[in-house]
Amino acid sequence: MKISIDPGSCSGHARCAAAAPALFRLDDDGYALPYDGEVPDGQEETARDGERACPERAITVG
Ligand code: F3S
Repeated sequence: MKISIDPGSCSGHARCAAAAPALFRLDDDGYALPYDGEVPDGQEETARDGERACPERAITVG
C-alpha cells in the first residue's frame, strides 16, 4: 500500500498530519510532504484516516 499526495491539490489544511502523524509530515509552510515507500503493516487504516481527513482530496491511498 502506498500514499500519494497531489501537491497541486494540497492547500495546507494539515488535517492529514493531525489524523495520522506517524504517516503524514508537513513542510515548513504546512503542506504535506511526499510519502516515500510502503505503508507499514498494520498502519493501513491509519493511512486511510489521513486520506479521509483531507478536505481537498489530495491524498490517495491504495
Ligand atoms: Fe494538504 Fe490535505 Fe494534508 S490539504 S496538508 S494533504 S489535509
